[in-house]
Amino acid sequence: MAIDYKPAVDFNHVNYSVEGFDILKNITDSFLEGKITTLVGPSGAGKTTLLKLCNGLLSPNSGEIFIKGKIISSYEPVELRRLVGLALQSAPMINGSVLKNLALPLALQGRQLSEKDAQNLLYDVGLEAEFLHRPIKDLSGGQRQKVSIARTLVNRPQILLLDEITSSLDRISQQEIEDLIVKINRKYETTIIWITHNLQQALTIGNYAWVMMNGEVIESGTSDLLHSPVNEKVKLFLKGEVK
Ligand SMILES: Nc1ncnc2c1ncn2[C@@H]1O[C@H](COP(=O)(O)OP(=O)(O)O)[C@@H](O)[C@H]1O
Ligand SMILES: [Mg+2]
Repeated sequence: MAIDYKPAVDFNHVNYSVEGFDILKNITDSFLEGKITTLVGPSGAGKTTLLKLCNGLLSPNSGEIFIKGKIISSYEPVELRRLVGLALQSAPMINGSVLKNLALPLALQGRQLSEKDAQNLLYDVGLEAEFLHRPIKDLSGGQRQKVSIARTLVNRPQILLLDEITSSLDRISQQEIEDLIVKINRKYETTIIWITHNLQQALTIGNYAWVMMNGEVIESGTSDLLHSPVNEKVKLFLKGEVK
């Protein structure tokens, strides 16, 4: 990858296995600061596992991961969670208002979220301030996902990990989420690492793409590689012949 950009996350010969089964094999690549990189590949390729390594939910068996130039094991867990945010396809929510859910990450740290800050977070995800006091159960899937992203933004993460966050949404909500992630990326220069099954999405929003298969990064580079892959297996996958 281009050397004139700094890596936000740097993998150096990273291996991860569970009970002798190699889930990630010799990953050596970087996610560049302030860029949007998409992770694509068949189900079971190791994409989610790779994201979990980026925020310390999992640790590699061997190899090194650097976050903003510092080896990941040297971060305090709380510091790492603040620096690296994670949003999932099914956003777990607690019963109660949107405000209560937004305040949750800080509440877990014994801190409070002011209404003003909560309103600013909603603004960033395109929801009106009036949503703050709505019960979470009354929200649509798309609105719920926006609240989930807003909640991830509470700590103002410099790196945002997104795991198939639009998979269960209708096209309009999907588009809205894409737009707001791009907006967050531009406004805060947040590094985005986005797992998606949607190749069109990867092409339109991603600056870079990694194609993963069987625990390996088979191809990586600027997103246009998805138009003209070199590897035969990647060609088949992109044609939809490999699921
Ligand atoms: N805790 C675990 N124990 C055993 N196997 C696992 C575990 N987590 C993931 N795997 C396996 O690792 C592979 C990669 O999983 P995952 O990272 O979820 O892939 P993806 O997100 O690309 O679908 C799969 O074969 C999965 O079954
Ligand atoms: Mg996954």
